[in-house]
Amino acid sequence: NIKGVIFDLDGVIADTAVVHHAAWKKLAAEIDIPFDDAIGERLKGVDRRASLEILLEQASRSYSEAEKEALATRKNDYYRQQIQQFGPQQLLPGARAAVESVRGAGLKTALASASRNASLLLEKLGIADLFDYVVDANHISRAKPDPEIFLAAARGLGLAPSECLGVEDAAAGIASIHSAGMTAVGIGQPQALAGADLLLPDVAAFDISRFIKT
Ligand code: G6P
Ligand code: MG
Repeated sequence: NIKGVIFDLDGVIADTAVVHHAAWKKLAAEIDIPFDDAIGERLKGVDRRASLEILLEQASRSYSEAEKEALATRKNDYYRQQIQQFGPQQLLPGARAAVESVRGAGLKTALASASRNASLLLEKLGIADLFDYVVDANHISRAKPDPEIFLAAARGLGLAPSECLGVEDAAAGIASIHSAGMTAVGIGQPQALAGADLLLPDVAAFDISRFIKT
């Protein structure tokens, strides 16, 4: 039986997938690297440095470590400029209600985000107190699709992986949830999230009651 739900942040709770996408797109244009929606989709849920490596697959020259660091920082600066102005209105529709419904049903809630900006975002959105446990990129060493982040969240909640549900908008996240031995709920389009156990168009459609045995 499900006793806890572990939510991804960007693209599930926060309307930031588009902001990450726009920041990478701007960087790509500045260094003359082709960028399209398919590449944008591959970057979802992937940490900053791995995202840069995906972007640089299309590069016509190689980049030094120092140059890569500078590019990753530049992208993050573009991203942070945007989220400085964020508030509760950047919660995706139904996100707060989805998390509250899980708590209301007596289950635990956690957040598993690959972002180093997760705590800033939680504060801006005003939802830090909705989660019993938070794991972000600062607490783990292996990024999604590795299961580490979801396993750390389950451990933090004091639950077995089989008692947890993971909610994700990215293919890398669904893979991470499955490797952790959890049930995966995908939020978004079937093309990108074919592996999910349950696919929903958006977080507003999330209904915890279907996972609770009565
Ligand atoms: C989330 C987003 C990714 C982003 C990653 C790292 O998983 O879905 O698009 O690259 O976090 O975010 P950061 O804020 O640390 O650059
Ligand atoms: Mg996401």
